[in-house]
Amino acid sequence: MAASWLATQGRLPLAFMLLGLGWLGVATAMLALSPGVLALSHAAPAVVALTHAWVLGVFVSVATGAIYQIAPVALGTTLWRERLGWWHFALQSISIPGMVYAFSRWDMATLGLFASPFALGIGLFAINTWKTVRNSGRHDAVAWSLQLAALWLLLTVVVGLVAAANRLWTFLPFDPITVLRAHAHLGLGGFFLTLLQGVTFRLVPMFTLGDVPDWRPVRSGLWLSQFGLISLAPALLLQWNLLASASAVLVLAGMLSSGHAFRRTLATRKKRALDPGLRAFLAGCGALLLAPILGLLLLWPASPWGSGGGGFGAMPYAVALLVGGLLPVIVGMLCKVIPFLTWMIAYGPKVGRVPTPSAGALTAPRLEAWALSLQGSAVVPLFIGAWTQEPWLLSLGACLLAAGVMLFVYHAGLVLRHLWAPRIPASAAPPSP
Ligand code: HEM
Repeated sequence: MAASWLATQGRLPLAFMLLGLGWLGVATAMLALSPGVLALSHAAPAVVALTHAWVLGVFVSVATGAIYQIAPVALGTTLWRERLGWWHFALQSISIPGMVYAFSRWDMATLGLFASPFALGIGLFAINTWKTVRNSGRHDAVAWSLQLAALWLLLTVVVGLVAAANRLWTFLPFDPITVLRAHAHLGLGGFFLTLLQGVTFRLVPMFTLGDVPDWRPVRSGLWLSQFGLISLAPALLLQWNLLASASAVLVLAGMLSSGHAFRRTLATRKKRALDPGLRAFLAGCGALLLAPILGLLLLWPASPWGSGGGGFGAMPYAVALLVGGLLPVIVGMLCKVIPFLTWMIAYGPKVGRVPTPSAGALTAPRLEAWALSLQGSAVVPLFIGAWTQEPWLLSLGACLLAAGVMLFVYHAGLVLRHLWAPRIPASAAPPSP
């Protein structure tokens, strides 16, 4: 009974993981077909389209799916309304292709048409998350990070709609590029960072059999970053560089506090060897620490670096952040969550009745390690290529990334095959997370 309930619960997050996996293939193909876009200004339509294919298609799909999976486990409750989650899934699936198309044509009216159902989906997600947290009665750092992350995501989407409307009717008294910066930082900093500063402290102990020895640096890390993030977006919008720099310092202080807590948590783990997915997750978290430092360099008084292509501007900054930081974090999550959910659905209901393999036995760690290393090796050529506008470096980086992603998707297919072709081993093995 409990096992089949778990199997049903796993379907919604797995659907989001598959959506993210599909977009990982599409977004990589978009980059591989025209790597030269990374030499353009970051505000060029083709770049904004590519950014949203990655951010909405891959990162937001996987992260929201992970929340549907992790929130009930971390809070010791059930998801408030699973049906709302399926509505969110449907709205997100139909709206992202239209949004990416509209961005590439810079057609803001069509963008509004497709972005509205996307925003509705995020609204349903936020309500579901808040109600789930409220019903759990928990007020710890993990509960706060889930609620705040949902709030930041909703805010990002609303500001995105306003930015699109402003491009159409020009009613805001700000330079559109500053609106873009505020919106981008609300999403990348507000949503993803807030989520990582809480949920990591449930996820990593769960997968490494460790414990959080002290919650104080977790809490202070979360709140320091929140204070920084609250002032960062308006400071970027109003071009108050001093306030933006102070905000970036606060965010950095918060990240260092979380990093310190994370290091102590990892030290308690009973599973000493880290598998490829966890290593990628850790490497991505480490690279994300660079984001406020690179951001501070861009804010430096009389800095020549701006929004145009070439030089150390916003484009190499975005490449470092998205390909070097968020991508390994997100694929690292996929490495853990896809086998776990596949196991729950394919074998969970069979536990105790027939021998079942462990979740770990569904993966091929060497293949996974190759896929992740190839993806990691793409960061340097893409970063330097975006900086120097060197086409061969951009092509090399895009090819390495495409090879890594192809291998990764192939490996995920091998794991998912257990859903329709479960393999019953000769002897029973205990399930591992
Ligand atoms: C309804 C949903 C969304 C809409 C309508 C939207 C709209 C926009 C628009 C219009 C721009 C360009 C602004 C301009 O040049 O004036 C933009 C840029 C950007 N958006 Fe969104 N957005 C949405 C969701 C998101 C989310 C959820 C994230 C991240 C979590 C995000 C991240 C970004 C980033 C990073 C940029 C900068 C892209 C670049 O410079 O190449 N967006 N968005």
